[in-house]
Amino acid sequence: MTSRFAFTRRAAIALGGALMLAGGPALAQETVKIGLILPMTGPFASTGRQIEAAAKLYIAEKGATVAGKKVELIVKDDTGTPDVTRRIAQELLVNDKVSFLAGFGLTPLAFAVAPLATQSKTPMIVMAAATSSITEQSPFIVRTSFTLPQVTIGIADWAAKNGVKKAMTLVSDYGPGIDAEKAFKDRLTAAGGEVTGEVRIPLRNPDFAPFLQRVSDAKPDALFVFVPSGVGSQFMKQFVERGLDKSGVRLIATGDVTDDDIVDSMGDVALGTITTHHYSANHNSPENKAFVAAFTKAANVRPNFMAVGGWDGMHLIYEALKKTNGATDGTALVEAMKGMSWTSPRGPISIDAKTRDIVQNVYVRKIEKVDGQLYNVEFSTFEAVPDPVKAGK
Ligand code: DHB
Repeated sequence: MTSRFAFTRRAAIALGGALMLAGGPALAQETVKIGLILPMTGPFASTGRQIEAAAKLYIAEKGATVAGKKVELIVKDDTGTPDVTRRIAQELLVNDKVSFLAGFGLTPLAFAVAPLATQSKTPMIVMAAATSSITEQSPFIVRTSFTLPQVTIGIADWAAKNGVKKAMTLVSDYGPGIDAEKAFKDRLTAAGGEVTGEVRIPLRNPDFAPFLQRVSDAKPDALFVFVPSGVGSQFMKQFVERGLDKSGVRLIATGDVTDDDIVDSMGDVALGTITTHHYSANHNSPENKAFVAAFTKAANVRPNFMAVGGWDGMHLIYEALKKTNGATDGTALVEAMKGMSWTSPRGPISIDAKTRDIVQNVYVRKIEKVDGQLYNVEFSTFEAVPDPVKAGK
C-alpha cells in the first residue's frame, strides 16, 4: 500500500516535470507566432515596407504580450511572386508553427495561400490585396484592407453627379483592375452615363503611352484609372507628358493611384485630382493624428492605405486572442473576429460576420496642398460601405 502510494507520487512528480517541459507551468511565456508574408523587394516593395512598419509599430505601442502570450512577428519577403508566397507559407506553418498567416501584398499572392489556410485551419489576415472574391477562397480568410468595388462605386457616383457623361477606363490587367473596371462601368451606366473605351494594361512594366494617345484623341469627359499602390507616379508622369493635364479630360481614380507614399512627389500637376478611397494620411481624427505622428517618426515616411491595413490586421489578431483567452485554435479565432468593430485611424470599421470582409467609410477626396505638401483631402463620406459584390449576392 505504502509502496504503491510512493510509486504513484514519484510518477506524479515525473509527469509534472514532463508537463513543465511541454509548456505546462511555462504557459505565461508561451509564444504566439504571426507569419507576415510581404513583397519587401521588387516593384511592390513599398507595400511591404508600409505594412511591416505598421505591424511593428502596433506591437511597440500595445506591447509584445497579449492574453498572457508573447507575440512574435516573423517577416518574410515573397518578392511579389505567388510560388514564393506559397512556399514561405508552407514553411511558416510546418517549421515555425505559426498561429496566423498575414500580409498578402497582391491578389495572386493571397490566392496562392488560401488552400493552405483551409487545410491547416489557420486564420489568414489579408492586409493589402483587394479583389472582391479573395475572402471566398477560404473560410479562414479575414480582410482588413478593402475591395476595389467598395472604393470604386463612390467615384462613379461622384462623376455622374458632376457632369461626366462619357468616360474611358484604364486599369491594371488582373483581379482588382477587372473588379474596378466593372464596378465603375455598371455604376456610371446605371446613372445614365456611358463608358466609351476600356483598356487593360499589363501589371508588370506597364506602358500607358499608346492608350493615353487614344484618350487624347477621343476627349471623353473623364478618364477613370486603377493601378496598384506605387505605380501611380509612373502613370501621372505619362499623363502629363501626353499633355492630358491640359486637355480638359478630367482624371478620376481610386486612391491607389494617388497613395500617400507617392502623392507629394507627383507635383502640382496632380492638384485637383478627385479620387475615392478608405484612407488618407490627412484624415481628420485624433486616432489618425496619433497614428500618422508615430508612424512617421518610426518609418520616416507618411503611412499610406497599406500601412493602415497592416495596423488594423494586427489589432484584429490581438483582439481575437483576447476573446479566446490566448487559445490559438484557428476556428475559434476566426469566430472571434466575425462582427468585430473598432475605430481605426481611417475611421469606424467592422468585420462583416457573414463575409469576413471589411465594412468601412469611403471618402471622396481632392488633391490639395496642405502646409506645402500634396495630400488627399477628404470632402465627403459614404458611410459603412460593404463590398457591394458580396452584398448583392
Ligand atoms: C492590389 C494591390 C495594390 O497595390 C492595390 O493598391 C490594390 C489592390 C491587389 O493586388 O489586390
